[in-house]
Amino acid sequence: MSKLWGGRFTGVTDTLMSQFQDSIYFDVRLWQADITGSIAYAKALARAGVISDEESKTLQQGLAQVQAEFAEKRFELKTGDEDIHTAVERRLTEIVGEVGGKLHTGRSRNDQIATDLRLWLKAEIEQLRRHLVGAQWAIISKAEEYVDVILPGYTHLQQAQPVRFSHWLLSFGWMLERDKARLDDLTRRVDVMPLGSGAMAGNPMGIDRLFLADELGFATISANSMDGVSDRDYLIEFLSWASILQVHLSRLAEDLIIYSSQEFNFVELADAYSTGSSIMPQKKNPDSMELIRGKTGRVIGSLVGLLTTLKGLPSTYNKDLQEDKESVFDTVDTLTMTLQISRAVIQTLTVNDGIIYDKMDSTMLATELANYLSAKGMPFREAHHIVGQVVQKAIDLDQPLNLIPVAVYQQFSDLFEHDMYKVLTFHRAADRHTSSGGTGKQVVRDQLDALKLLTEFDEE
Ligand code: ARG
Repeated sequence: MSKLWGGRFTGVTDTLMSQFQDSIYFDVRLWQADITGSIAYAKALARAGVISDEESKTLQQGLAQVQAEFAEKRFELKTGDEDIHTAVERRLTEIVGEVGGKLHTGRSRNDQIATDLRLWLKAEIEQLRRHLVGAQWAIISKAEEYVDVILPGYTHLQQAQPVRFSHWLLSFGWMLERDKARLDDLTRRVDVMPLGSGAMAGNPMGIDRLFLADELGFATISANSMDGVSDRDYLIEFLSWASILQVHLSRLAEDLIIYSSQEFNFVELADAYSTGSSIMPQKKNPDSMELIRGKTGRVIGSLVGLLTTLKGLPSTYNKDLQEDKESVFDTVDTLTMTLQISRAVIQTLTVNDGIIYDKMDSTMLATELANYLSAKGMPFREAHHIVGQVVQKAIDLDQPLNLIPVAVYQQFSDLFEHDMYKVLTFHRAADRHTSSGGTGKQVVRDQLDALKLLTEFDEE
């Protein structure tokens, strides 16, 4: 078949050049959006009186047939189908004959691809949002299941203060909540229709763009055709969103990799999401989490890649923009997997609360001891210093704080009395953090309730 743009050419395209510029092998993924856009455009052409109602019907029926061929995986690509737009129009013309050539009147592949990609992304965003909420639900359920388990909270990866397991896990629920809000916000900027921008100057056929936007379910239309064909901000925003979300999942993965190691053994990942070693029979590796951490690199790479592609572009459409698709497709596929895997890993993990308890260092209660002294009137700075000395003594004696006799404590301050042992339990220490957002049981329950509301939590 002759090329869409072949008229002014006398020479043929070099085979290598064809391979180099063809995008069909990846943009074929946009078939549904491309055909939906064309059906709406066929209607708009008739409304504008550019083609007859009958011609429009023929085009729409032909397009429906092409759509069915794709849906039933019967569509056959042919040499010369350089991109999805070419392939659909070629097949349409085979089906309906010459009138197929009227579909593209006033339209350019520049506004067409810009529209296709937005239509496609809107649908993908809906799916991704569902997966994101699914991961939040798994977090909520697991947090509820283990609400009474206390584990060490870390700063600098050193045991810092006792916190509820749920408090730790819910911290990721809130990260995802921000990701959800960011996604909802950026969706507004995806939901803009560039169709009718033509190659870049607009549409001279009297096309009703608001009608088109309505047909295609876009909230609004782009305001400037030159911007309309070249705007890829929404992809940058999407990739930024994806990068932040993926970084959150990566940090969760990192915690779980650490917590599932022999040294910690706080949690056990299900066999279904672990793998073995071909040489060491004893190994159970947290590959699911390592892959999530690993794939974060490529997601961030996609963002940096597209920013770099856009950086020096002259106004409106340049073929460089064809490079916007593969990394976005890859990112959608990656997140679709990582969100579902994260959800499943959380759903199936078990917590070794007995082992966690044995690994908790009593010195995590030092802050509680300092608070105890300051409750008795000692300035906190001084209390901090004295408890520091007590901790040093405990290290010298190789004894946990709760097993050191009160007489030893009293060498450091006579404000220490027998009732201080009450302070020295991990549960109590956690539960004393009752201000909202803290790790006390009631406020963790409040957190759970708040996140349930925001995610419209449904028992899994
Ligand atoms: N395959 C092209 C892309 O992905 C479609 C737009 C082509 N426009 C053009 N003027 N060659 O960007």
